Amino acid sequence: MRQGSSPTARAGPVSRHHRPSMRGRRRQVSFEHRRESGEVGLRLPVRWSSAHRVRRAFLRSVNSSHTRTKKDTMTPALEVRGVSRTFGGPAAPVTALDGIDLTLFNGSFTAVMGPSGSGKSTLLNSVVGLEAVDSGTIRIGGREITGMNERQLAEFRRAHVGMVFQDFQLMPYLTAAENVGLPLRLAGRRVDDERVRELLEAVGLGGRADHMPSELSGGQQQRVSIARALVTGPDVILADEPTGSLDSQSAVEILDLLVSCVNNLDATVVMVTHDPAAAARAEAVVFLVDGQIDGSLVNPTADIVASRLAHLGRRVA
Ligand SMILES: Nc1ncnc2c1ncn2[C@@H]1O[C@H](COP(=O)(O)OP(=O)(O)O)[C@@H](O)[C@H]1O
Ligand SMILES: [Mg+2]
Repeated sequence: MRQGSSPTARAGPVSRHHRPSMRGRRRQVSFEHRRESGEVGLRLPVRWSSAHRVRRAFLRSVNSSHTRTKKDTMTPALEVRGVSRTFGGPAAPVTALDGIDLTLFNGSFTAVMGPSGSGKSTLLNSVVGLEAVDSGTIRIGGREITGMNERQLAEFRRAHVGMVFQDFQLMPYLTAAENVGLPLRLAGRRVDDERVRELLEAVGLGGRADHMPSELSGGQQQRVSIARALVTGPDVILADEPTGSLDSQSAVEILDLLVSCVNNLDATVVMVTHDPAAAARAEAVVFLVDGQIDGSLVNPTADIVASRLAHLGRRVA
């Protein structure tokens, strides 16, 4: 692996001055880099979102016991070990993933960035078993998915993974509430209308439950899709360019919402983005180049991410 780095985002208690009202629910991020010299561990406080208004509304609306998850923040939500994937035949192989090692702990928010073709989509698709891998293992919530057959994978995904896409991928003929409840229906579970209503309120769409997607703005549709991703209480939420087709104000609101999901619902989010400002909302950024992890940043700022990307681009070019 390039530079032999192995990033690990860990959620735990955060220092006392950050959010007095959140006592007992604080967390700290540690990002560990395995280098030739051994393990280096960092423990840094998470920067809480400045959007207090959004978060407080969010907390008010999701404070019931069956919406809030109670997860062990020391257990990895996602473990990727030595994962490789090559496309094409032996005559013209294209290595999309080349020995990826990544551990993300419950309640972490990680951005994945890299040049076009660096393997970001292949990584996200492999992590949820939509794409097979040639070697290595993937565990979600402690369960190994490499080795599952198609049916097992589909069932597992429905129950344990939430997905958010750039183009929302809502069912056009279902209302917002029906879209949110759909993963439960597909999993053969009872659709808890109260929970669906709470989630819609949590994402700021309490009054839009009966609207069709075509009656909602892009930002509102993405809110519905985030509520849908949350409805099963998944081990991990994977977001592929979730702000990619939104105007800048809606993008900020969606990022606020993802941060709230992580801080207040213990959701674990992995987000592919090409936008340094979006990546800066995550607790850590992992950089991919040529299918390999090329380092990471903890508590990123948009400026540092942008200059790091430019540097990656130069080396790749
Ligand atoms: N189905 C496929 N068949 C052949 N090559 C593929 C396929 N999917 C991805 N690749 C190749 O794998 C590499 C990584 O692709 P991808 O994961 O889509 O990168 P990114 O999302 O970072 O742009 C690229 O070189 C791409 O051309
Ligand atoms: Mg891609």
